[in-house]
Amino acid sequence: MKNRTAKENKAEFLLEGGKPLSEIAAPLLAWYTHSARELPWRKTNDPYKIWVSEIMLQQTRVSAVIPYYLRFLEALPDLRTLADVPEEKLLKLWEGLGYYSRVKNMQKAAKKIVGEFGGVFPRDFEKVRSLPGIGDYTAGAICSIALGLPTPAVDGNVLRVLSRLCRNPSDLRDPTYKKEMESALREIYPEARCGDFTQSLMELGALVCLPGGVPLCAQCPLSALCAAHAAGEELLYPKKSEKPEKKREVKTVFLIRCGDTLAIRKRPPKGLLSSLWELPNAQGKLSEPDVSSWLEENGIDALEIRPLPPKNHIFTHIVWEMHPYFILCSEPKGNFRYAGFDALSEEYSLPNAFRKLLPEKFLKTV
Ligand code: ADE
Repeated sequence: MKNRTAKENKAEFLLEGGKPLSEIAAPLLAWYTHSARELPWRKTNDPYKIWVSEIMLQQTRVSAVIPYYLRFLEALPDLRTLADVPEEKLLKLWEGLGYYSRVKNMQKAAKKIVGEFGGVFPRDFEKVRSLPGIGDYTAGAICSIALGLPTPAVDGNVLRVLSRLCRNPSDLRDPTYKKEMESALREIYPEARCGDFTQSLMELGALVCLPGGVPLCAQCPLSALCAAHAAGEELLYPKKSEKPEKKREVKTVFLIRCGDTLAIRKRPPKGLLSSLWELPNAQGKLSEPDVSSWLEENGIDALEIRPLPPKNHIFTHIVWEMHPYFILCSEPKGNFRYAGFDALSEEYSLPNAFRKLLPEKFLKTV
């Protein structure tokens, strides 16, 4: 008898009713062929460009990513330009997307590819996965979409599709569930269309198998195979445990205006939003007398001090509760940089957390 290969020996993942998971591939791909959105990163299989898109698409909506993606690639069209660009310019290109460590890691990875892989984007999963800032999901996406390898990319959207399909009671936050689904998908990748298969699952999650509302099952190519749909239980899946509450940090933030300039300063080189610019700020919610003392200690002669409405900014693990004050002064004093409207738009990387406190005329978007 012929020896069985490792793949043949592996128990096949079955859908409810006993059909093999591989039955999803044909209807999904047929649907993807006529329903996929035309997106700029779907016109290329350059791994560098796919990488840029996948990093931007983590935590940011497709429609918001498109102008950033186009501008980034115009400024930094290949790995070497990314490796060599000054950090200040790099951060400016990322401004507004948030999570700046993503782009700092991209530059580290680009330097590593130039230094260790001769400037050529690696062509196997393990090497791609070893790059700074690239986890299982991103490596899976790059390798399948750009390199045609059978490497799944399972994120929350794909897990939602699979949870409904299989009426799987596992918790979306359970990392072993994700691993199980990666293994099950790896076995059924259609060899000739690995990238399309990855993106068809993402696309179904984005356009049809919607979160937080009623999914569009009438348009779903998998509805005949879907256990949650058969049971009328689409809204009961996926199962997701409560998120632990985020830490709250309270700050007083100063919009110190002098003529047509605002005071800014550079953040420390380590930690959250490291090396970016910020509006001067102090820990805690200062009372008006405390604000006056803070200004005095920092060399500011204030002509006017006016509290503005508080605003929150939500990061991955922390929430900033910001209490802004408008301060008018006649001379640019203290240990700050005073930046005009144009410089604030074009030169300095001021994170959204601060930018959202600025008056309209200081705001400019991509
Ligand atoms: N989200 C993550 N990757 C994506 C892709 N390649 N296309 C659309 N949305 C995505």
